[in-house]
Amino acid sequence: MIGIIGAMQEEIELLKSKIINIKETKIYENIYYSGIMNRKEIVITKCGIGKVNAAFVTQTLITNFNISAIINIGLSGSVSEELNIGDIVISNRLVYHDVDVTAFGYNLGQIPSFENTFFEADDELINSAKKNEKEDVHIGIIATGDQFINNLEKRREIKEKFNALCVEMEGAAIAHICFLNKVPFVVIRSISDKASGEADSQFEKNLKFATEKLAKILEKIIGDYNGI
Ligand code: ADE
Repeated sequence: MIGIIGAMQEEIELLKSKIINIKETKIYENIYYSGIMNRKEIVITKCGIGKVNAAFVTQTLITNFNISAIINIGLSGSVSEELNIGDIVISNRLVYHDVDVTAFGYNLGQIPSFENTFFEADDELINSAKKNEKEDVHIGIIATGDQFINNLEKRREIKEKFNALCVEMEGAAIAHICFLNKVPFVVIRSISDKASGEADSQFEKNLKFATEKLAKILEKIIGDYNGI
């Protein structure tokens, strides 16, 4: 089964309507919608905002369903000039931009005892996503933290320190749990804002457009993925 996790109701609502034979399972306070999408068995759920919510739901999903891959979808603020509103970013790697144990010699973003600072997304999933590559689909680093980024200074810092394309609030936590469980994953985000001073109003204005683009590409990726 492919597990799909979105942070917000809007992000999963469109996809829910494309599931055949939909079944609802409630675990704790969360509803997991399972069924068939594009000939593949999937289960989709909403995790809420932030790293801890994302980690909790990812582990619950893996523990309770027969999950062979996870796709995290959602919106994201761009930190790179090459990205426009509505562009799609496919993760090759994820990093925490708000983890700092440099005092003990670790890299910025690195969790102590972990060998790597970046969580590597799965090649097979990236390749399925790449088939849909057009000029508005980019592959690169996504940075995650418990902050909605809406200032230019912070935006520049994240780009410079991590060479990230965009920033969001769940991806690396989902990647982290997938890494611990040895489950392949990819994060696919649609750009809703430029993480600058107007990011909050841009986010609200572009929510619908960016979410629709995401739903379209996700359906295709699920059809193309042969890793299960
Ligand atoms: N998700 C969408 N836009 C974002 C931003 N600017 N910062 C963090 N997460 C986001």
